[in-house]
Amino acid sequence: LRILVLYGGPSVEREVSLVSGEACAEALRSLGHEVELFDFTGDAVALVEALETRPAVVFNALHGRYGEDGCIQGLLDLMRIPYSHSGRLASALAMDKAAAKQVLEAAGLRCPGGAVMARENVLGGDPLPRPYVVKPVCEGSSMGVVIVRHGDNDLPFTHDDWPFGEAVLVEPYIQGRELTVSVMEDHALAVTELRPRQGFYDYTAKYTEGKTDHILPAPVSSRIYEAAMAQAVAAHKALGCRGVSRADFRYDEEQDSEEDNGLYLLEVNTQPGMTPLSLVPEQAAHLGLPFAELVQWMVEQASC
Ligand code: DAL
Ligand code: MG
Repeated sequence: LRILVLYGGPSVEREVSLVSGEACAEALRSLGHEVELFDFTGDAVALVEALETRPAVVFNALHGRYGEDGCIQGLLDLMRIPYSHSGRLASALAMDKAAAKQVLEAAGLRCPGGAVMARENVLGGDPLPRPYVVKPVCEGSSMGVVIVRHGDNDLPFTHDDWPFGEAVLVEPYIQGRELTVSVMEDHALAVTELRPRQGFYDYTAKYTEGKTDHILPAPVSSRIYEAAMAQAVAAHKALGCRGVSRADFRYDEEQDSEEDNGLYLLEVNTQPGMTPLSLVPEQAAHLGLPFAELVQWMVEQASC
């Protein structure tokens, strides 16, 4: 097939997407597809020009704003070019962590509480009892995420250095462990536990070799393992995702009991990373599905 791989993008996850896109393009070439890479810089006119060559499929390797939030998906729907990953509604919903939470909670999935607040209310003093987490509503790769703990003297940023807009998502910090589950349509792949060597699973811990131990399969009870797998599939369906997604959880084992499994769903990623350190390809490989076959499957799910 003639496949156009979209990568780069103007979001703060641009560097991640460049790596994801290169890896996917190389895999698609190895499968015999005719592949062109297009670095989307945010220039919509240049993007439309690239699309006017009418590729058979667009492989979307973008992350973050515009590439993951329904914008590109809407354009491709309009142009009737099939594209990989989720469609525009699921993309827009999942990218907006506050909107996604409402849909996920309505489907019976538990997310951390919290609220979207105006940033001056967050920056004036503690908006919640500590520890709590401050996040941009619509970013990925932990960009802008700050955990405010007991004993931190000052808030870790000021009004002027918060580049992520007027609305801020504030959630209670869920103590415990970090788990992630990849989903291929109605099938969860595995549960990985992420153990950063230092601090939390932030941008540096995600993309620097050796900074985080990936424990696969996650060493949790089979009850928790199965619950996380089932919740990831339920979340994928609740948001209406297509192809691959990845659900990220916190697991508070102190809270784990017969009635309460201690799992909190943080979010669903509709354009999960495809870099050499990324979790979806790692889980697929663990199940015997090589990277190229995973990418080929994503192409086969393409639709518009
Ligand atoms: N947002 C990054 C790419 C991920 O979820 O893997
Ligand atoms: Mg994310």
